[in-house]
Amino acid sequence: MHEISYLAETAAHDHEIEEINAEAFGPGRFARAAYKIREGGPHERALSFVATHDGRVIATVRLTRIAVGQGRSLLLGPLAVRPSYKDLGIGRRLVRIAIDAARNTGWCSVMLVGDEPYYGPLGFRQVPIGQISMPRPVDYRRLLIHEIEAGALETLTGEMRHADCVAPAPAAAVGRLAAAG
Ligand SMILES: CC(C)(COP(=O)(O)OP(=O)(O)OC[C@H]1O[C@@H](n2cnc3c(N)ncnc32)[C@H](O)[C@@H]1OP(=O)(O)O)[C@@H](O)C(=O)NCCC(=O)NCCS
Repeated sequence: MHEISYLAETAAHDHEIEEINAEAFGPGRFARAAYKIREGGPHERALSFVATHDGRVIATVRLTRIAVGQGRSLLLGPLAVRPSYKDLGIGRRLVRIAIDAARNTGWCSVMLVGDEPYYGPLGFRQVPIGQISMPRPVDYRRLLIHEIEAGALETLTGEMRHADCVAPAPAAAVGRLAAAG
């Protein structure tokens, strides 16, 4: 098998990414709470990645800026791998690449809605139920956070929305490290 490449996402990947997400999640994806939040604005192209093989996109992960009360974080997803490439470690690798990119650009945490048995070993843990709400019904046991900066979760209380849907956060309460801008 040729080598798998991990690349920063560009607009040229959009069509194949949509195809992979449609195949992985079906039409039900539009009803998900995370989808509703992502509808509020663009994802972060510079913090989103694809895996390619033979020039074809085979897996995708995106990060989107979110606001939770006065705090700021990133919502990871969708994460999807084409069926014939599953169980090769590609999904885990993309999650690690996305977290590294978030860390390198000064973000304090990454959140997602997903299966703890998969994401736990990647450093995610459950958010205490009742601390954060989402705009559509969701199983809150699946709301997870990876703290890049210890204590980041304490800054995140209230309703989760796309960051573009709220006024800019006061400088003292953002989810990014001051030094990294
Ligand atoms: C979930 C998904 C992204 C995993 O990607 P992948 O590249 O196949 O996964 P990896 O190779 O990194 O990891 C495989 C391991 O994770 C396990 N795993 C996969 N999905 C899992 C899940 N939902 N819960 C727990 N473990 C899971 C596999 O059994 C395998 O375990 P092993 O290493 O002990 O054999 C991929 O299966 C997929 O696209 N699924 C459909 C879309 C989806 O559910 N996305 C996640 C939304 S939160």
